[in-house]
Formats: sequence, structure tokens, C-alpha cells
Amino acid sequence: MISGFKNRILVTGGAGFVGSTMVDKLIENPDNFVLVVDNLSTGTTKRLPDPQRPTGNL
Ligand SMILES: NC(=O)c1ccc[n+]([C@@H]2O[C@H](COP(=O)([O-])OP(=O)(O)OC[C@H]3O[C@@H](n4cnc5c(N)ncnc54)[C@H](O)[C@@H]3O)[C@@H](O)[C@H]2O)c1
Repeated sequence: MISGFKNRILVTGGAGFVGSTMVDKLIENPDNFVLVVDNLSTGTTKRLPDPQRPTGNL
């Protein structure tokens, strides 16, 4: 699934205010595979480009 990407990046809190802004910038680079981990305690999947992305807790 993630082969073919030069960079594999994990963004914790990626459904939050700061994290989702980072995700938006990071996915502009087609070399980046970006995975979000967020427990949605204050964040929302509405901020994510793909709301079906898996979520989790650290
Ligand atoms: N519209 C706005 O202007 C606006 C909106 C939101 C926040 N803010 C400001 O931004 C700053 C905070 O933004 P932020 O991005 O740091 O906070 P945030 O709450 O938006 O993001 C933190 C993210 O981390 C996640 N999270 C927390 N604990 C976790 C855990 N144990 N495991 C996985 N995920 C976890 C939360 O669900 C959330 O999505 C504050 O200054 C706030 O006032 C501004």
C-alpha cells in the first residue's frame, strides 16, 4: 500500500487544528505518504482530506 512513496510520515493529532494544516501541506508532495493517528478527543475527521482514514490512540 505504501510502496512507491519516498517519505512515510506519521502525524499525531492530525485531526486537530495544527495537525490538519500540516497534513494539508504534506500531501501536496506526491512523494509523501501521510498517516494520521488521532483519538478524536478534540479533533474531527472533517478536517482530514479522507475521513475514512484509520484513527487510533497513542
Ligand atoms: N479556528 C481556530 O482559530 C482554532 C481552532 C482550534 C484550535 N485553535 C487554537 O490552536 C491551538 C491548539 O491547536 P492544536 O492543533 O494544538 O489542538 P487541537 O486540539 O486542535 O489538536 C490536537 C489533536 O490531538 C488529538 N489528540 C489529543 N490527545 C491524543 C492522543 N492521546 N492520541 C491521539 N490523538 C490525540 C486531538 O483529538 C486533536 O485532534 C490553540 O491555541 C487553540 O486556541 C484555533
